[in-house]
Amino acid sequence: MTVAQMFQRATVTRIITETPDARTFVLAPHDAPFPYRAGQYCTLRVQVGEEELYRSYSMSSAPETDTELMTTVKRVPGGRVSNWLLDNVAEGDELTMTRATGTFCLDDTDAPLLGFAGGSGITPILSLAKSALAGTARPVRLLCADRDATSAIFDDALTELAARHPGRLTVQRHRDSEHGLLDAATVAAFVGADTGADCYLCGPEGFMAVVRSAWAGPGRLFAEDFAPAAPAEDPPADINGATDLSGTVTIRLGKKTASVPRVARETLLGSARRAGLAPPFSCEAGNCGTCIAHITEGSATMIANTVLDDDEIADGYILTCQGVPDSASITVDYE
Ligand SMILES: Cc1cc2nc3c(=O)[nH]c(=O)nc-3n(C[C@H](O)[C@H](O)[C@H](O)COP(=O)(O)OP(=O)(O)OC[C@H]3O[C@@H](n4cnc5c(N)ncnc54)[C@H](O)[C@@H]3O)c2cc1C
Ligand code: FES
Repeated sequence: MTVAQMFQRATVTRIITETPDARTFVLAPHDAPFPYRAGQYCTLRVQVGEEELYRSYSMSSAPETDTELMTTVKRVPGGRVSNWLLDNVAEGDELTMTRATGTFCLDDTDAPLLGFAGGSGITPILSLAKSALAGTARPVRLLCADRDATSAIFDDALTELAARHPGRLTVQRHRDSEHGLLDAATVAAFVGADTGADCYLCGPEGFMAVVRSAWAGPGRLFAEDFAPAAPAEDPPADINGATDLSGTVTIRLGKKTASVPRVARETLLGSARRAGLAPPFSCEAGNCGTCIAHITEGSATMIANTVLDDDEIADGYILTCQGVPDSASITVDYE
């Protein structure tokens, strides 16, 4: 792999209008086959005016049931990328995207699956439901909350899916316009006796908070948070906590090379920013792969990483949002 291969071009072969504010983009990646698991996402790199922006979008397709790769985008009021995608991208256009990443995936278990989807959170939940129905015997129940019927993405698709899997899939709709915002009592009533289920949760912050507060388990709760990444925290003290550091961090980004003195427990991404560069990033949590670079001199340890495999790490690849230098001198190249 090269850093460039983390990103690839994909042709938008079809666009499906799901609701007035949401569209599905059917993508044909140029480097097919494109492996992914239900519940995973890609990060798109788009040029909006002068700015290069990165945003993650979950797959609404599932590899077990769909021959096409699909991602579904809902407009966020004032949002730069979601509005740009919905208003500018046409069939036949090309987008730049990462390979699929993310851990919001099914485990190998027979436990019933409960899905809680709020608004655009239905995107990965639909993918997971399709995958579980096709690949396992697990019962699936979904609670889908939307402002009103008009804004409910995949309403018809869910009705059809339930009809194709009688007794295996049930869908409970919650419309804020009729019942007000979802409350803990409704969540508890929906869970019923399925307290040992695997529970998958995705939606706006308030929706996720209500479901979390009502979910006592003992089943497991998996959540995917669409909200923009919080500023990265300092690495734990056991990662390069020395205070008497000397050495230099050198970053190559495009045609620019910059060096800064090494600072205790600072990530490579942090050093690059301190050096006045603007390298790519998205999640700042080691999950999306947007910030990948190649170490050409020295070494670093990652705080978290769900993207790179052992071979890629051995080849010198690093998630710069997570990489803290181990060596006095280090050079990383975003290639
Ligand atoms: C792992 C992951 C998977 C995702 N999958 C999907 C998906 O399948 N479909 C989808 O439509 N979106 C998805 N998102 C959200 C998406 O990445 C963007 O955050 C969203 O499209 C808004 O980007 P923007 O550039 O339009 O808004 P920005 O210009 O970044 O933000 C504009 C304003 O909206 C607020 N805002 C940003 N994101 C959200 C949000 N998600 N909800 C509410 N307010 C927000 C910001 O705080 C800001 O005030 C996912 C996010 C993550 C992290
Ligand atoms: S920004 Fe997502 S892995 Fe670093």
